[in-house]
Amino acid sequence: MQNEKATLVNDSIMCQWTQSGLLEFSHRMIFQPMTFALFGEIDPHSLETDFRLFDDKIHYFGAILPTWMYSWFFTKALTARTRLNSAWLAKLHPSQESELSHARTVLIQDNYNWLSGQDHGALQTTLLWGALGNTIPTVFWCLFHILQNAEALEVIKQEIDEHLPFSSLDNDKADSVIEEWTVEKLNSCVYLESAINETLRFAASTFLTRKCRQETQILLQDGRILNVKPNETVAYFAPITHLDADLFPDPNKFVFDRFVNKNADNIAGFLPFGSGKSICPGRFFAKNDIKICFAMLLRRYMEFKFIDTEITTAQKRGRVGFGVAPPSLDVKIMYRYKM
Ligand code: HEM
Repeated sequence: MQNEKATLVNDSIMCQWTQSGLLEFSHRMIFQPMTFALFGEIDPHSLETDFRLFDDKIHYFGAILPTWMYSWFFTKALTARTRLNSAWLAKLHPSQESELSHARTVLIQDNYNWLSGQDHGALQTTLLWGALGNTIPTVFWCLFHILQNAEALEVIKQEIDEHLPFSSLDNDKADSVIEEWTVEKLNSCVYLESAINETLRFAASTFLTRKCRQETQILLQDGRILNVKPNETVAYFAPITHLDADLFPDPNKFVFDRFVNKNADNIAGFLPFGSGKSICPGRFFAKNDIKICFAMLLRRYMEFKFIDTEITTAQKRGRVGFGVAPPSLDVKIMYRYKM
């Protein structure tokens, strides 16, 4: 009897619509699992408030203002950053840390004269921000576009059902056979992959910078030659090519299947993860994480609706140039668990 009552209470909670911001929702989907996957058994909640404070002002830190300006005008974000930098040093190798995080720490420990303790902490904070500060807004923009596109939603739901086994991830019965969501199976979701690439085409507003070590000539598309001297910095702004109509027809339209069956790594002018030696090492992890997040949401758990009938939002202006910019205003949604 008690069990029945508990089930009824649970069912009614599951049926209730809950209101949230879509960016806040994306943050809650990604923050904890990604932090855990990268850094292992740390308490992600202890970092969360400081991450939010630092993330909100990251563009001012990227601007490299005079030091006194940070202490005067950005005290909270500066304190949050200092706390984050110190947090990593308390436990250098948490259990279940990722190979990436482990290898970075080992390299720094082996070469202890390279960096001070604080700088080592700062490097881990950069990794935390680079991973979450880009992935969370990508999930936001992807949901923002897909949830408003009935055709895309249907096609993506169908391929998720076709390629990803039902028994996975949420099945905690010890005796049941769990068919995993392998990378190969995730890669079979070509429409979802395409929608993520299309989201990045729109939203990745990265400035890639390279410092020149020797006199170099760069041949521009229009035939001009750019002479770059040693120590000069060259910057490439991704939206210039991402929104070029010659490369991507109808560039201001979100076309969810634009990248279907194309190898995004080889598309001229498409560089959401940078290029060359310092290309983002987390790109596969980020994409797989987003795919898993989408698959779980669409298949098993959620129904969504937007609260405002006219939804418009732009990228937060100060953040343009720093990876994937979050929206200037969060978008209100309602969601509930599927029955
Ligand atoms: C959608 C999510 C992401 C985007 C759009 C993104 C984008 C970028 C870009 C544009 C760069 C600079 C590349 C260059 O200079 O050529 C970069 C570097 C980097 N990213 Fe990501 N990233 C994402 C997620 C991640 C994740 C999840 C991780 C960690 C697992 C990560 C770790 C790094 C690191 C360590 C670098 C520095 C690489 C180096 O300097 O050698 N990123 N990322």
